[in-house]
Amino acid sequence: MTNSESTSAASQGVGQRWSSRWLFILAAAGSAVGLGNIWKFPYIAGENGGGVFVAIYLGCVAAVGIPIMISEVLLGRQGRSSPIHTMRSLSQCAGASGRWTALGWLGVVTGFLILSYYGVIAGWTLHYVWLSMSGAFAGADGASVGATFDAFLADPWALVFYQTLFMALTIWIVGRGVTRGIEAAIRWFMPLLFLLLLVLFIYSLNSGGFAQDWAFMFDLKWDAVSSDTVLIAMGQAFFTLSLGMGTMMAYGAYVPEDANLGTTVVSIAALDTFIAIAAGLVIFPIVFANGLEVGQGPGLTFVTLPLAFSQMPFGEVFGGIFFLLISFAAITSAISLTEPALSYLVEEYNAKRQRVALSLGVICWLLGLGTVFSFNIWSDMMIVGDLNFFGFLDYLSQNIMLPLGGMLIAFFAMWLLPKELMYKQLGITNPAVGWAWRILAGVVAPVGVLVVFVSTLWPVLASLLGL
Ligand code: PFF
Repeated sequence: MTNSESTSAASQGVGQRWSSRWLFILAAAGSAVGLGNIWKFPYIAGENGGGVFVAIYLGCVAAVGIPIMISEVLLGRQGRSSPIHTMRSLSQCAGASGRWTALGWLGVVTGFLILSYYGVIAGWTLHYVWLSMSGAFAGADGASVGATFDAFLADPWALVFYQTLFMALTIWIVGRGVTRGIEAAIRWFMPLLFLLLLVLFIYSLNSGGFAQDWAFMFDLKWDAVSSDTVLIAMGQAFFTLSLGMGTMMAYGAYVPEDANLGTTVVSIAALDTFIAIAAGLVIFPIVFANGLEVGQGPGLTFVTLPLAFSQMPFGEVFGGIFFLLISFAAITSAISLTEPALSYLVEEYNAKRQRVALSLGVICWLLGLGTVFSFNIWSDMMIVGDLNFFGFLDYLSQNIMLPLGGMLIAFFAMWLLPKELMYKQLGITNPAVGWAWRILAGVVAPVGVLVVFVSTLWPVLASLLGL
């Protein structure tokens, strides 16, 4: 892209920049660290046999996640506008088909689907702030904490109430702009989250279930792997790193020119992975020490953590703060889920941010009702196989749409974007390094995604089509 073209792309956008590379790391980590790390990672690892899942997941983060995140951020920094506009201007500049703009649209739709259920689950964390602080878990045992959770899920009104609260908060913040308020809050929130995880970790270490947890998380029992495990681990890597739907492209548009993308992205991925593993090391010892079920699904975090807090001195306070932090982590992720659609609409129609945020939020809220009912009145209504509404949305968005988006993003950045632009973005001067990078990000990562897709989804498709 020539300078004048990139200036014109920027002029469609907001032309903002993060105040520093470090603030980009915090904002991107704010997007990455969320329910995916603390709620989802432990329960998916639990359902998929532990050690082997964790190993495959780590492999996916390193070999696929990091190269794709670098590709996504570099496209954003080159395009300097919303993902849809970025894909439009970059495909023109690359002389590629205008159909690549559809990649931006895929991201917008995926963001809607994810936010619709994300808002419901994040609502649970708000409810648990209240429950913990009001002392509802004082002296409770595994059975009563489990019963409290089941009763909550069975009540659609309660779920809608907290979903509405969370979505309203998100819309309010998004409407005000991703301001220094969030940047400043993240500065406090990250260290506090680490600290509380450490407190819980020390508790778990002494709970009596730690050795079993270690074996569960790190022993490679290959017989636990099903044909779907690799797809689920890869989908989780995409979800937790906020990849494949243009969020990192939208955030990348504000990255200062002189930031080194490679080291920046590795720091974000390392931070995110560390928090997911720490959550597993905290949650599973409590599961084992209390004879709970590792594969109990979405309720895992909401049963084990209150149980730990109920047995700790000042558990009400720690519990309340911890669920508040998870809610906060969820809000910084929810905000980033709206960014691709929001930045597009604001740029394209010169629309008011508040108004766009409200409309997007209402649509997501409505769609979210399907997830609310999946835990009670629609729980047995299957959409495909054994997946109900929530299960289907979750599977489709995380395991199919995000990896598909990520694969196409990496392919575009490596093979269609002019090589000099990519090298300039990454500061690559040595052609050998350039080729090594292209092999990793342009071949290993997208082909890896493709192979996992074909090998897991083909048998399902073939049986559906009667082949
Ligand atoms: N990474 C977030 C989490 O782990 O909770 C979820 C997420 C945010 C996914 C933003 C995708 C995204 F674009």
